[in-house]
Amino acid sequence: MELRPMSRLVIISNRVSVPTSDVGGAQGGLSVALAAALRESTGIWFGWSGEETAHFSGHINFQRNFGVTTATIDLEAQDIDEYYNGYANRTLWPLFHYRVDLAEFERGFAGGYERVNARFADTVAPLIEAEDLVWVHDYHLIPLGQKLRERGCRNRIGFFLHIPWPPTPLLLSLPSHRELVQSVFAYDVVGFQTLDSLEAFRDYARVQLDAEFGEDGSVTHEGRTIRAIACPIGIDTAEFRASATSEVALGVFERMRLSANGRTMIIGVDRLDYSKGLEERFLGYERFLGSHPDQHGAVFLLQIAPPSRADVQSYQEIRAHLDALSGRINGEFADAEWVPIRYVNKGHRRDQLAGMYRAARIGLVTPLRDGMNLVAKEYVAAQDPADPGVLILSRFAGAAEQLVDALLINPHSPEDMADAIATALAMPLAERIARWRRLMDNIEAEDVIWWRRRFTEALEAARPHPLPPG
Ligand code: G6P
Repeated sequence: MELRPMSRLVIISNRVSVPTSDVGGAQGGLSVALAAALRESTGIWFGWSGEETAHFSGHINFQRNFGVTTATIDLEAQDIDEYYNGYANRTLWPLFHYRVDLAEFERGFAGGYERVNARFADTVAPLIEAEDLVWVHDYHLIPLGQKLRERGCRNRIGFFLHIPWPPTPLLLSLPSHRELVQSVFAYDVVGFQTLDSLEAFRDYARVQLDAEFGEDGSVTHEGRTIRAIACPIGIDTAEFRASATSEVALGVFERMRLSANGRTMIIGVDRLDYSKGLEERFLGYERFLGSHPDQHGAVFLLQIAPPSRADVQSYQEIRAHLDALSGRINGEFADAEWVPIRYVNKGHRRDQLAGMYRAARIGLVTPLRDGMNLVAKEYVAAQDPADPGVLILSRFAGAAEQLVDALLINPHSPEDMADAIATALAMPLAERIARWRRLMDNIEAEDVIWWRRRFTEALEAARPHPLPPG
């Protein structure tokens, strides 16, 4: 087979993570995987630095670390407020996670979103070379493709949505839903995490835009044809499995075992976000404790939940609720020698988490809605093949489309959760091994390298974009 040189890749996302080493360590799986793609393709990764500046200047801070070039810009306080805390995290995030009740529709947010997307386009456009593949990520930057086209960019541009695409009736509550969806047609390839999200997008295109549908996932609207595909993201399975038996992970594993003192550990690891169903998880676990007095003192739940988006009120509220709820449940059931919930608001390195996952008999991953949820995949990948733990997974995580051999539950039902915990605790070794093997088959086959290849190959196959009229 002839090996074609890879096109240069320009990755654009709101957050950019500067590599701190050649392999994982403190970093997320996605950033490790994208960094690996950039190393192969000598591309760049462009986005917001996370820093604030008094006046937006378009100044780009280039850095080269471990073979990866990152290019970041600072944003003004008003940008951060209206674009990141505003439209991205107070409008789109709740709405796309089915929480219309939490979504705020302020014109100022929408204006800030447009302005920052234009600022991204203005600053990144001069960095894009003729043959580059441009790959835009996530809900912060949906209109970026269109803004790049308006600036004459004819490259192949792809977009991947990491969060769910909402059903049409929900999306209709967004005042500018039509403009937002029409802007998607500036891309060449649009990727979703699940068939469910892909179908919801196609439904909107059919019902609201009267679009036409072709073979191979093409969708045409007002003369523009895009390819819309489901392309579920995976983890770097080989890297994560290796990190689960690294010195750091094995050290954590041993310390957890000592501190568990013969008790069975259940683990949950989530950003502190209302979409993760943490209140419902605590209530389900409370139900389990209430109906299984024999398990008092025999199990505990380690919930790791680093605070997130702390400037947004709904995040402050969920944090306060969880403080109260974990306190109440511990007060209700604890005794002098046992605390049922260890609730930790601190982030951990990935290799430390891998050790904790391995030490936990149950992984509790119960979001109310989630684009994918990589913790579910990491929990499975970290297990000891000879004595694996059991994954309890929400039906409403994107991962549930692939991980059908987990114990799938409805996270809204405390009884469902309590029953699943009891089932997992009683599950014979042979069944644990059989389920784990089938889960691993998927996690190994559809890993992050598979995901990246599948998306970039679809993008390479797209036709070059015609010049804009006029
Ligand atoms: C989700 C989003 C990402 C985002 C991450 C962390 O996974 O899909 O785009 O980066 O949450 O959220 P933050 O607001 O801290 O970037």
